[in-house]
Amino acid sequence: MADATGFHLKGSAPERYEHYVAPLMAPFVTALVDAADLYPGATVLDLACGTGFAARAAAPQVGPAGRVFGVDIDEDRLEVARARHPRLYPDIEFTAAPADDIPHRDQAFDVVLCQQGAQFFPDLDAALREAARVTRPQGRFAATVWTRMDESPYCVAQHHALRKHGGPDAAATYRTAFSCTAERLTDSLRRAGYGTTTHRDITFDIELFPLEELVPAHLSALSPSRAMTEQTLIEAAHTIRAHLPEGTSTFPFTATLVTAIR
Ligand SMILES: C[S@@+](CC[C@H](N)C(=O)[O-])C[C@H]1O[C@@H](n2cnc3c(N)ncnc32)[C@H](O)[C@@H]1O
Repeated sequence: MADATGFHLKGSAPERYEHYVAPLMAPFVTALVDAADLYPGATVLDLACGTGFAARAAAPQVGPAGRVFGVDIDEDRLEVARARHPRLYPDIEFTAAPADDIPHRDQAFDVVLCQQGAQFFPDLDAALREAARVTRPQGRFAATVWTRMDESPYCVAQHHALRKHGGPDAAATYRTAFSCTAERLTDSLRRAGYGTTTHRDITFDIELFPLEELVPAHLSALSPSRAMTEQTLIEAAHTIRAHLPEGTSTFPFTATLVTAIR
């Protein structure tokens, strides 16, 4: 696809997600992995791993004696995850499965990570019961979920464009990303059998890719806009740019970081 500036979308939607969302996720992944306090030899599950940001960050921390696994419902994202992960020890094993039916044995993991996934699970309690089942006693859980959308101007601009160009369903699907409060997540973790829980908001000012390149590519990689025609995507990208200040590609993003002990 090319717009008036000659811009072309490159790669598949999961490849664009991996490339363009990496700077946005990076500081949150670091915070998530730090909060989980990984150690050499640990066995880690990245639940709703997508293209594998958290799994790849965990691998060097658990080292050659550790194991890292990723589970996600989206086989296309897993394909990118498998292609991208470094061929170093430990090898990372990615499996397609829903979060409420994790294909691993009871108490298999020392740590379960979930980076921006919990808000999308259709039955959060069922998914966290599964997470608890595969976590060993005293094992850890750490997750991030976005806080309110209005705390992230870039997301407000994306939502506005989806409402205008993608219709009510696209906008409603997008809002799911901001639908899981810390209270909902911690209550559900306790019901699932986790003990001590903590939560805190973390904000980073993140320098994204230059907006003329980022805006259409990022939008085209998101589930609510994947069905947009090329022309609609170009128009939506213009709407996003119009809602953002000129001359910067640095924006604040806020997520809630939740931890729990099994
Ligand atoms: C915003 S992405 C986050 C992906 C990755 N953790 C990251 O940090 O980029 C949400 C992910 O949740 C996955 N997902 C949604 N519903 C799921 C479910 N029921 N079971 C497993 N994964 C699910 C999606 O396929 C998607 O990869």
